[in-house]
Amino acid sequence: MTAKPLSSAAPHVSHTSEIPPSILDRLQRYQSYASLESPPTVQGRVTRMVGLTLEAVGLNLAIGRQCQVCTEKGDTIDAEVVGFNGDQTFLMPVQKIEGIAPGARVIPLESSQMMSMGDHLRGRIVNGLGQPLDGKGDLLGGDESQAPKTINPLSRHPIDTPMDVGVRAINGLLTVGQGQRIGLFAGSGVGKSVLLGMMTKFTRADIVVVGLIGERGREVKEFVDHILGPDGMARAVVVASPADDAPLMRLRAAELCTRIAEYFRDQGKQCLLLMDSLTRYAQAQREISLAIGEPPATKGYPPSVFSKIPALVERAGNADKGGGSVTAFYTVLTEGDDLQDPIADSARAILDGHIVLSRQLAQEGIYPAIDVSASISRVMPAIVPEDHLQKAQKCKALLSRYRDNKDLITIGAYQAGSDPQVDEAVERFPLLNEYICQSMKKGAPLIESMQMLNQILAPKHNPNIKNSPLAQQHKQAAAQQAQGT
Ligand SMILES: Nc1ncnc2c1ncn2[C@@H]1O[C@H](COP(=O)(O)OP(=O)(O)OP(=O)(O)O)[C@@H](O)[C@H]1O
Ligand SMILES: [Mg+2]
Repeated sequence: MTAKPLSSAAPHVSHTSEIPPSILDRLQRYQSYASLESPPTVQGRVTRMVGLTLEAVGLNLAIGRQCQVCTEKGDTIDAEVVGFNGDQTFLMPVQKIEGIAPGARVIPLESSQMMSMGDHLRGRIVNGLGQPLDGKGDLLGGDESQAPKTINPLSRHPIDTPMDVGVRAINGLLTVGQGQRIGLFAGSGVGKSVLLGMMTKFTRADIVVVGLIGERGREVKEFVDHILGPDGMARAVVVASPADDAPLMRLRAAELCTRIAEYFRDQGKQCLLLMDSLTRYAQAQREISLAIGEPPATKGYPPSVFSKIPALVERAGNADKGGGSVTAFYTVLTEGDDLQDPIADSARAILDGHIVLSRQLAQEGIYPAIDVSASISRVMPAIVPEDHLQKAQKCKALLSRYRDNKDLITIGAYQAGSDPQVDEAVERFPLLNEYICQSMKKGAPLIESMQMLNQILAPKHNPNIKNSPLAQQHKQAAAQQAQGT
């Protein structure tokens, strides 16, 4: 006997007069569902809410799927599937949670809405969902966003060209290459935002993408109005997600600014990506992972955080030969100026160099407060001529010598002639200091920064050096000491 194939057609309800009305109603509803082209959406129900996490049942969705949760007032809140346990689905809202009651409906969305990419983004400020925040109207035009090209690590173009960032100390002493990823390590209030603003205004990159992730809301306006100004803003795209945004929104903002930078790189542009800060990105990831039950490891950070950072940072860099590049600066907060913070440690290991901003220098009024001796650009030897590299190393060595002996020098306890290198450091220190100090209003092009190094290291009979205030002070102290003995 052969089995009859099951008919996929909807059952036809006939002889309606013989069927009780309640069953007839159900059958007719079934008939209309079955005749639909797409099956009906299965909706879920919120059963529990702990902290920021919503637990729902009745859903069978993959991680990363977008949903809408209905509130009591009839609004909806966007949420994302971040985990599951048996038939429970964990959701994390993208917006602030308000008005969600037990049993609230959860409606899965078909696909996530991708933001369109293009030149229309220049000069605009958007949030983590790509919605405009600047009141300049909707973002119209651009290309449909597509998944970024995955680049085979072996076909990535090597970092071989310097990137002019417009900051003298970086251009000259810590030269950055196109496609390099650098960390900007600093405590709070040491001048990170001002330095990022200077780079945005004075760089020679084709476009600058700025991600303001998890910082104070007030700072976003301040950064845009005062630090960037209209000139900086003209070729920048700002993605902002302040500290009071939901952690998922902050993660999305970090990913969106990376995505925008990737788009411009795929268009063959030299893009500068500035993200303030990578630490806040890690903290947002920590909030989410802890909320869905991942155990904490180092300093409360669950292990997944340490795999998310490389996943984000590795997206920057050069494209294949002949393509564009994403040169990225990530600020890393060093809590209490502790450079051994686990995020700082993990960032330092994955990035191609780090620039340390020193509170001590900021207190002395040296801005940008770059501690050249503690900073390193790992690709510098491959992108600058040997002569430049040697000069930069010499400057670093002199600065380090001076700082090591600073206490002795300032109280006049150092005797000139005891160590020729310290003697030279004392003589050249004022010029070195002048070289590092830069007004936030004036850029320093790469060529000029390189040429100025020659002046600093000019032969000793340079009158500037002989008559420098510190050299004079040092000589006076030495003379007084000689008289006393
Ligand atoms: N190049 C500069 N020239 C003069 N002053 C500067 C310079 N850079 C920073 N400052 C001073 O340092 C202050 C703090 O700078 P900034 O806001 O950039 O610090 P931050 O590290 O971003 O702080 P936070 O951690 O609070 O975000 C500025 O308000 C400004 O007074
Ligand atoms: Mg700041």
